[in-house]
Amino acid sequence: MLKGKKIAFFVTGGIAVYKAVDLMRELIKKGAEVKVAMTPSAAQFVSPLTFQVLSKHKVHIDTFDEETPEVVNHIHLADWADASMVAPLTANTLAKLAHGLADNFVTSALLATTSPIFTVPAMNGNMYDNEATQLNSQLLRGRGIYVMEPDTGFLAEGYSGKGRFPEKERIVEEFEYFLRKQNTTLPLTGKKVLVTAGGTKERIDPVRYLTNNSSGKMGHAVAEAAWQLGADVTLVTASSLSTRSQIKRVSVESALEMHSAVDRYFNETDVLVMSAAVSDYTPESTSDQKMKKQDQLTLSLKKNPDILKEMGSKKRANQYLVGFAAETEKLEEYAQQKLLNKQADMIVANDVGKKDRGFDSDDNEVIFFTHDHEPKVIQLKKKESIAMDIMHWVADHLEGN
Ligand code: C5P
Repeated sequence: MLKGKKIAFFVTGGIAVYKAVDLMRELIKKGAEVKVAMTPSAAQFVSPLTFQVLSKHKVHIDTFDEETPEVVNHIHLADWADASMVAPLTANTLAKLAHGLADNFVTSALLATTSPIFTVPAMNGNMYDNEATQLNSQLLRGRGIYVMEPDTGFLAEGYSGKGRFPEKERIVEEFEYFLRKQNTTLPLTGKKVLVTAGGTKERIDPVRYLTNNSSGKMGHAVAEAAWQLGADVTLVTASSLSTRSQIKRVSVESALEMHSAVDRYFNETDVLVMSAAVSDYTPESTSDQKMKKQDQLTLSLKKNPDILKEMGSKKRANQYLVGFAAETEKLEEYAQQKLLNKQADMIVANDVGKKDRGFDSDDNEVIFFTHDHEPKVIQLKKKESIAMDIMHWVADHLEGN
C-alpha cells in the first residue's frame, strides 16, 4: 500500500517529535519515499539533521530558504506528494490548518497541496479537550482531512489524559486505511474475500493436540493483499499471527470449527482462498481430562470434512475458488488432480520438501495451476509478494471484474 508512495511528512512542535522519527522510518521501511518539512518549534525538539539523514532528503523549515530560483520549495513539495502526513500535529498548527493560515513552510505547503492529508494530533489533554481544538478538528474532518484520535494515557506533564501520540503501528494501519479509501478503483473494491490460514489443531485431550507445520504466514499475507486491493476481507485463522483491525478475523482451532466458519460466510463470498493446512484427520474422541501415561496408546482417527472440495461442489459460476497444494513429490501431477477433484479455479502449489521456503518460512516459490492457462511459476520471494500476485491474478480472472 505504501510501496513507491511519495509522502510529504510534516512535523510540528510538540514533545512527540521524537516519536515521529520512528514513525517516519516505518513508512520508509514499508517502501514509501518520504520528504520532511518541520516548523521552527519542531526543530527545537529534534534536530532536522536526524530527519534528513534518515529520509535522505533535505528538510525544509524556512519558506524563504529558496536555493534554486526555478523552484518554490513549499509548492514543489505540495505538488510532489501522493499523500501528506502531519505527525505530531500541535493544537496551534491544527488551528492554523482549520482556518487556512499559511505563515510558515509547513502550513503553506499544506494549504497548497491537493494530496490527501492525514494528521496525528498530540498535545496536552486539556488542550485537546478544549472546545476550540474540538471545533477546529471538526472543521478539518468536514473538509476530508483525516484527524486521528490520540491515545489516552500518561502525558509528558506527568498526569493522564487524552492527547498521547499513538503507537506507530496504529498510525500506519490507519494511514493505510485512509489511503485505501481515497482510491475507489482498486481491483477488488466491493468484493468479498474469504481466506483461511494456519494449521488446524485437533484436540486429543485438554493439553494435547495433533497439528502440522503451517505457520499461517501465507494465509495472513493473502488476507492483507486482498485488503490492500480493496476487498472486504474475512480471515478464518487457526494461527496466532496478528491481523489489521479492518480485516474481520474469526479465530478457530479445529478443522470442524474452520468448516463451520467457512460454511457460514461462503454464500456471500466472491472469492475463497483456502490457504489453511487443514488436518485430514481428527481423533475419534477427545478426552475431557488429561490422559494418563500408559505403556502404549493407540489413537483412533476419523476423517475431517474436505472444506475446499465441499465449497467447490456448491460454488456458483461467479465465485472464485483458490486452493493450495503442499507436496513433497509429483507437484504438478497432484496439483492438476486437485484442481479437478476439488472443482477449484486455481491451485497454488508449493514444494514443502525444501528448507528455505514453504511452511513457517518467510519466502516461498509457487506455481499457479488454472484451467485455461499454462502453469505460471512464481520464483522464490517473500510471501507478501506472492500473496499480491495471487490476488492480482484472481482480480484479473474473476467473472464480472
Ligand atoms: O487435498 P489436500 O489436503 O492436499 O488439499 C489442499 C487444499 O485443500 C488446501 O487449499 C486446503 O486448505 C484444502 N483442504 C480443505 N479441507 C481439508 C483438507 C484440505 O479445505 N480437510
